[in-house]
Amino acid sequence: MAGAAAEAEKSPFEKELLAGKVALVTGGGSGICFEVARQFGLHGASVVLMGRRPDVLQTAAESLRKESIQVEHVQGDVRSADDATRAVEFVIESFGKIDILVNGAAGNFLSPAEGLSSNAFKTVIEIDTIGTFNMCKAAFPGLRRGGKGRDGADGEGGVIINITATLHYGATWYQSHASAAKAAVDSLTRSLSLEWGPDYGIRTAGIAPGPIANTIGMQKLGALVSEEDRLKNIPLRRMGKTWDIAMAALFLASRAGSWISGETLVVDGGHWLSKPQAFPRDAVTQASRRVEKISREVGASDK
Ligand code: HXC
Repeated sequence: MAGAAAEAEKSPFEKELLAGKVALVTGGGSGICFEVARQFGLHGASVVLMGRRPDVLQTAAESLRKESIQVEHVQGDVRSADDATRAVEFVIESFGKIDILVNGAAGNFLSPAEGLSSNAFKTVIEIDTIGTFNMCKAAFPGLRRGGKGRDGADGEGGVIINITATLHYGATWYQSHASAAKAAVDSLTRSLSLEWGPDYGIRTAGIAPGPIANTIGMQKLGALVSEEDRLKNIPLRRMGKTWDIAMAALFLASRAGSWISGETLVVDGGHWLSKPQAFPRDAVTQASRRVEKISREVGASDK
């Protein structure tokens, strides 16, 4: 990475932030969750990448090892409860415990609702929602306070981070399947924080990314909108980077996030709040001056 870009992507966190922690990252072979895994590793965690494609996982792991990151990978489909259990067992065999689970595996595509078969809708729900549940359930015995390999019965529990979206804040065209799936994941984040916080010490949080450059998600979902038009809808006027999401994940996974549970953090440059600008700024200033003048005149005539 060239000078200015490397500087912009320097981590503001200390290098030891996640020292001694073990993280399982689904969808960690590429895109957003590859960078999450990478930053976890660069901040001292051992990481396991889980995904469906062994070749992608292998390449990703090799690239992380070149940065001296302790990494392993395990092939599996989050839709299968057996694969989820096997993946968590692999993490514990490899590194002795599990501290952090990042649910990043997701499926999506653009389709008008009337073009979706029942199986298409179900497929996305199965990957995003049921997959997240399967992974949380499989990781629970290891994440719970006193769980396998954890320090002492009185120690802290682990952390779950669910990567969701803002699609379902309001509504999004042609993504009824993914919007429903992600709404359910946000609900699961809240339910698990309620149920697994008190006795088990597990924190559950979410991250809802906005449009992130150079990801499969953008290729599949963003093709119909020009970069210029997209930027008009992002108040901070830049596309997101995988780094932006990784920094949020570091924050939530670390002690800095130790009183955050049940909450989903939106990391989108203000994108979902965006509305078209109603009037030019100058016109608004002039109009408000006129209104001010009229109110003064009305006030004076009332005296
Ligand atoms: C309509 C479609 C379709 C499309 C697939 N289907 N693509 N229907 N329009 N474009 C239908 C198929 O016809 C089939 O239904 C059903 O969906 C299942 O498709 P399969 O290909 O058999 O499933 P599978 O191989 O499991 O693939 C799952 C997938 C695929 C979701 C369809 O795209 C995938 O694996 N994607 C993973 C990567 C991904 O999508 N990444 C982007 C995540 S972005 P029938 O009835 O014919 O059997 C993301 C961000 C969200 O999640 C937030 C953005 C801001």
